[in-house]
Amino acid sequence: MILIAAVDRNWAIGSKGQLLVSIPHDQKAFREKTLGQVIVMGRKTFESLPGKQPLYGRTNIVLSTDPAYQVKGAIVCHSLEETLEVLKDYRSDAVYVIGGESVYRKFLPYCDRAEITYIDFAYSADTHFPNLEELEGWEMTAESEEQTYFDLCYTYREYRKK
Ligand SMILES: NC(=O)c1ccc[n+]([C@@H]2O[C@H](COP(=O)([O-])OP(=O)(O)OC[C@H]3O[C@@H](n4cnc5c(N)ncnc54)[C@H](OP(=O)(O)O)[C@@H]3O)[C@@H](O)[C@H]2O)c1
Repeated sequence: MILIAAVDRNWAIGSKGQLLVSIPHDQKAFREKTLGQVIVMGRKTFESLPGKQPLYGRTNIVLSTDPAYQVKGAIVCHSLEETLEVLKDYRSDAVYVIGGESVYRKFLPYCDRAEITYIDFAYSADTHFPNLEELEGWEMTAESEEQTYFDLCYTYREYRKK
């Protein structure tokens, strides 16, 4: 399974239920990587999507502890264990964990790769991705050339479990 996230210099990912910044090239790359694949997300991230609609062209899995929670066009799972059971029907390299913080932390032990958009800026934030630079057992295996979006500098990084 693959984690995919955009993080800032402090590995922050969100503030007040929203992304820190939307970079069009990064959004396009996210779409290209995840189209036709399975995406796993927490209820809060799902509810932050435009129109609270599942993302088109992907198998959407949404986690919620609420047994009555339903989403048209998505599979709702109620625990990590239930999600892992559902995911047995899919190839592991077709499964992208797309956030937010609680879901990244829960699924990290089951993932062997992370696609990280690393934005060299420090935002005010309330949610974070585990810092893979400090986490034992993970290493950066690739990094793109520096990209720019107005005055922001960012790179696409790949991390793998050692
Ligand atoms: N930068 C990025 O790449 C990126 C990507 C995604 C999200 N984000 C940001 O991350 C923030 C949201 O992160 P978050 O941690 O607050 O919320 P989240 O992980 O998106 O959703 C949390 C909710 O998911 C459900 N959940 C989580 N673990 C579960 C489990 N094991 N079993 C059943 N349900 C489970 C619960 O829903 P119930 O409360 O319904 O039980 C929980 O309240 C937002 O600001 C968002 O914009 C950033």
